[in-house]
Amino acid sequence: MRLTYPAQTVYYDHVMKIPSLRPLRMLFLFLSIAGLGWLSAAAQTRPVPNPQLASKEVNARVEGLLKQMTLEDKIGQLVQFSAGYATGPSASNVRYDELAARGQVGSMLNVVGAEATNHYQHIAVEKSRLHIPIIFGLDVIHGHRTTFPVPLALAASWDPAAVETVAHFGATEARADGIAWVFSPMVDIARDPRWGRIIESAGEDPYLGSAMARAWVKGYQQDDLSMSDSTAVSVKHYAAYGGAIAGRDYNAVDMSEITLRQVYLEPYRAAVEAGAATLMSSFNSINGVPGSANPFTLTQVLRKEWGFDGFVVSDWGAVAELLNHSIGADGATVARKALEAGVDMDMEGNLYGTVIAPQVRAGKIPESVVDEAVRRILRVKFALGLFDHPYTQPGPAYDATPERRAAARKVADETFVLLKNDPVEGVGALLPLTAKAKKVALIGPLADSQREMLGAWSVTGNPKFAVTLRTALAERLGDRLLYAKGCDLLSGEDANVLKRVNFNGPVAADAHLSVPDDAKTIAEAVETAKQADVAILALGESANWMEGEASSRVHLGFTGAQEQLLEAVVATGKPVILVVLAGRPLELKWAAEHVPAILEAWSPGVEAGHAVADVLFGDVNPSGKLPVSLPRAVGQEPLYYAQLPTGRPAHGDLSRLPQGPDEKFMSRYMDEDNSALYPFGWGLSYTRFSYSQPTISRAEVPVREVVASGHKPVATVGVDVKNTGSVAGTEVVQLYIRNTAASVEQPVRELKGFVRVALAPGEQKHVEFPLGFDELNFYNVEVKRTVEPTTYKIWVGGSSLATAETSLTVVE
Ligand code: NOJ
Repeated sequence: MRLTYPAQTVYYDHVMKIPSLRPLRMLFLFLSIAGLGWLSAAAQTRPVPNPQLASKEVNARVEGLLKQMTLEDKIGQLVQFSAGYATGPSASNVRYDELAARGQVGSMLNVVGAEATNHYQHIAVEKSRLHIPIIFGLDVIHGHRTTFPVPLALAASWDPAAVETVAHFGATEARADGIAWVFSPMVDIARDPRWGRIIESAGEDPYLGSAMARAWVKGYQQDDLSMSDSTAVSVKHYAAYGGAIAGRDYNAVDMSEITLRQVYLEPYRAAVEAGAATLMSSFNSINGVPGSANPFTLTQVLRKEWGFDGFVVSDWGAVAELLNHSIGADGATVARKALEAGVDMDMEGNLYGTVIAPQVRAGKIPESVVDEAVRRILRVKFALGLFDHPYTQPGPAYDATPERRAAARKVADETFVLLKNDPVEGVGALLPLTAKAKKVALIGPLADSQREMLGAWSVTGNPKFAVTLRTALAERLGDRLLYAKGCDLLSGEDANVLKRVNFNGPVAADAHLSVPDDAKTIAEAVETAKQADVAILALGESANWMEGEASSRVHLGFTGAQEQLLEAVVATGKPVILVVLAGRPLELKWAAEHVPAILEAWSPGVEAGHAVADVLFGDVNPSGKLPVSLPRAVGQEPLYYAQLPTGRPAHGDLSRLPQGPDEKFMSRYMDEDNSALYPFGWGLSYTRFSYSQPTISRAEVPVREVVASGHKPVATVGVDVKNTGSVAGTEVVQLYIRNTAASVEQPVRELKGFVRVALAPGEQKHVEFPLGFDELNFYNVEVKRTVEPTTYKIWVGGSSLATAETSLTVVE
């Protein structure tokens, strides 16, 4: 049977398979046979992830307009141009004013500010025949004018509410700049830090990634696109862009459909279910079919299965790049493939604007395909209220207001991960710093660089507002603070290599290009350290030109002479605290063995120095947890905790299977341990937390009950968490499962729940985690979600190494 929308059939089948929902069957039959539109709408049988885009009102306006449009008008809506600066190769340089006046500019990117956007908007709305407004899009990645920590850092907070706040500040500020559409969130699973775009991701895990994806969408869109402080999102890069082979940007992705769905597509699904208005199709191919011409991901999964009503924009030039993917011999062919697969708008590809109309006229592309793409785009424009309020009132300057700075600092405080804080003989734990540290030496190339604090992809963030560590520590310590840069981020061969591939445009003027006399500056730093009671080293990599797009690396150690600097300062015998400022996991093996205290601080944003100082001085107790495994060596990559089992697990595997004698024929490296240096979920505190034995509300549950449970829990895991130390702290309590007998092998551990719990000293709280179909299902060999009779091992604790254990058995 078929109701109004194709996807209803899919959902109907699902509903009919669930015994407890069979009574609904009669209702379904009645509704479809009687054809009662109003009742059918009330029953809502099709997934409608965004009710605004599906609303009668919006769709009636869309149809009304569509009827008046010529083929040229329609094609105009499918085109997006970058005016202003470029965020990809070879930006077009066309006469935007003229095109807009002819209704040939559906969208623009990289035009920022009320004045600039209003300029084009006035032309489109007042001069074009049908007065259709332009939708302006921009890369608002971690805040807009106010720069918050980078997305990977935000994921380290394990705090969706914080992410929602960041997104909402971004939306408010972007809207004031005429931007109604943000190219965010990036929800690509990233399991390989060689890939520079790991910084834009929520890391390696689909469960954490989905929670973050939902929070981003909610914060930007607020469940109502028409609000003056909401923007539409563009969830990117659909699909599986983070799975690039060998971590090389834009490279092919090749994986089983089960892995694609169970791991890589999950955060996109979460974002779509949260109401995402648009998606961006990716550069990469997926199992041989480019993401920007992929009917399976763009139509079958996105539209038919998930019920997505919004539109898909290609990534920059991705339609034209289909020629390089060699799936067609000419622009007309590849553009047709992209459009028919489900890419509605061509970003800076300049193909849709020229090659689609002739093919429609020649009967090669049905006009209905164009109509459908136009519908999807107009729906979002109507829902955003662009037709009713096309212009932007020049508003207040949001730059660096105290309220915004306070929010940026509060969020950053939550993102730092204390990797290590071992006691030093005669001193105790170095962190938090106490009055005993009379003189503090701050050393390193990232100790005093405003520009580096903002992080990669902060398009409109202004470095002059950024607070460095040196500034923040000087505020607290006055002349008790000593400073030496120690070295630059690059030197010698590093500088030459990176210069060759990465330095053009404004970057060429960057001070880091100078090749300093490392030996001299390191000697100065050593002297500075000797005069102090403790040395803080601020090391890492350049957020500006070593991270983000097109910034893949095969070496993950500190660049330039930073490692030598670290070793030289450690050799003085002074206690050392290492603050790592980087948007990707770096190799920290030497540091982990020789430095007593290490804080992973990522790229913290405009309030960087203040926030890091909050934690160093103990005003804030660190609560961040790693959203990604830190490797011992780059050769372990891709390294992630949720590995599939092997028949020959070795020591260091998370599987914790009984270990035999140290055997040769095991799945391991000869020259390095299998395990992460610091695993997923890891992060210390200035206090300690203890966990009770977890309990399960019932030991067994019938498989049918689980299948029918949907979003409802069938069992609950309970645990008591106690702060056993002497200071208040927040613990991220994490729940992991392992399916021990599935028809398709399942990861050795999978995150299936987490919650931040604030505890005063001595305080204990009871935490409960629901388990139902959502948490327990997996994809079987037919690539269908299922639950089978099995036993789930369940662990609760403060990292993926959690040991407190219980179990749940699913019976026939
Ligand atoms: C290319 C990037 O992949 C994408 O993330 C970005 O949104 C677009 N360029 C537009 O700048």
